[in-house]
Amino acid sequence: MSHSQPTILVTGGAGYIGSHAVLALQKAGYGVVVLDSLEYGHRSSIDDVLKAELVVGRTTDRPLLDKLFATHDIAAVMHFAAYIAVGESVQDPARYYHNNVVGTLTLLEAMLEAKIDRFVFSSTAATYGVPQTDAIAEDHPQIPINPYGESKLMVERMLRDFDAAYGLKSVIFRYFNAAGADPSGAIGEDHTPETHLIPLILFAALGKREKITIFGTDYNTPDGTCIRDYVHVNDLASAHVLGLEYLLNGGPSDAFNLGNGSGFSVREAIETARRVTGAKIEVMECDRRPGDPPILVSSSDKVREVLGWQPTYPDLDAIVAHAWHWHQKRHG
Ligand SMILES: NC(=O)c1ccc[n+]([C@@H]2O[C@H](COP(=O)([O-])OP(=O)(O)OC[C@H]3O[C@@H](n4cnc5c(N)ncnc54)[C@H](O)[C@@H]3O)[C@@H](O)[C@H]2O)c1
Repeated sequence: MSHSQPTILVTGGAGYIGSHAVLALQKAGYGVVVLDSLEYGHRSSIDDVLKAELVVGRTTDRPLLDKLFATHDIAAVMHFAAYIAVGESVQDPARYYHNNVVGTLTLLEAMLEAKIDRFVFSSTAATYGVPQTDAIAEDHPQIPINPYGESKLMVERMLRDFDAAYGLKSVIFRYFNAAGADPSGAIGEDHTPETHLIPLILFAALGKREKITIFGTDYNTPDGTCIRDYVHVNDLASAHVLGLEYLLNGGPSDAFNLGNGSGFSVREAIETARRVTGAKIEVMECDRRPGDPPILVSSSDKVREVLGWQPTYPDLDAIVAHAWHWHQKRHG
């Protein structure tokens, strides 16, 4: 595909958020090369929908990375590739530290060797651990409570030190809850196993699961259920393009939260899904899960001010409607 802008390596580009970033990059005129192990990603998103070049391989494979950088003129790297399941990271931390930390270190070393010094990194609100305030800003203490969050924070620390020592510039995005799908319905969220609330609610609407479980109805929140900040995946993707352009224009390394800045409760998410789908959606109320903070909401002032980011789909109805469109096309 012809392009007017430089070429970007997107690791994890066959996954959920990465594939939406590939689409946003293509729409902005960038060339894209995807590196994905396809353990969790989907070849069809890249081959059939996005039609980008796909290199199947791992970030831990240094010879492969060296070859990739030697044969492509890469201006910057967007790094989505990681394992993402918090519970599994507690059961098998070695797998998480190896993939998320060693894999990223290997990638950064290969970039240094190839003299590529712009990096956009997918971090997470999980690096903050237990929130000490209602709206979390970037200077909130980072005290993760699981190996997944630790693995992301370790990379954040590496990036700070790599800038100081080698001048590698990075934009770190700490996402809150990514949700929704491209309005075309051509790409969307497809995790196995699925642990995220909105797709699970929609599986119940589709009859693919009997009911949706609410873990905890006695939190100190207006309706007793947990409140989370849902951000549309296309809005995440547009922030990545802004972050990339900020770096290409010589911006200094920085970290930004990516959330809507407004929270929705589990019950509100279920009500929204009932409205959007017209389905009844059975609910089962259970005890709280250990480790779930009552409220997790981002302050998104900094990314708006510094990068000029504006979410196009801040309301939950659009997020759920786009996710529903995707799931109906896929499973309906
Ligand atoms: N989904 C969310 O709500 C959320 C929230 C915060 C942060 N994040 C971060 O965003 C990024 C993308 O998440 P996602 O939801 O799209 O997950 P995903 O599993 O859909 O995508 C990750 C992709 O990376 C690939 N991959 C994993 N390890 C790899 C490796 N070592 N080398 C090459 N490819 C590898 C997988 O095959 C997959 O296609 C992750 O870094 C995740 O930690 C996601």
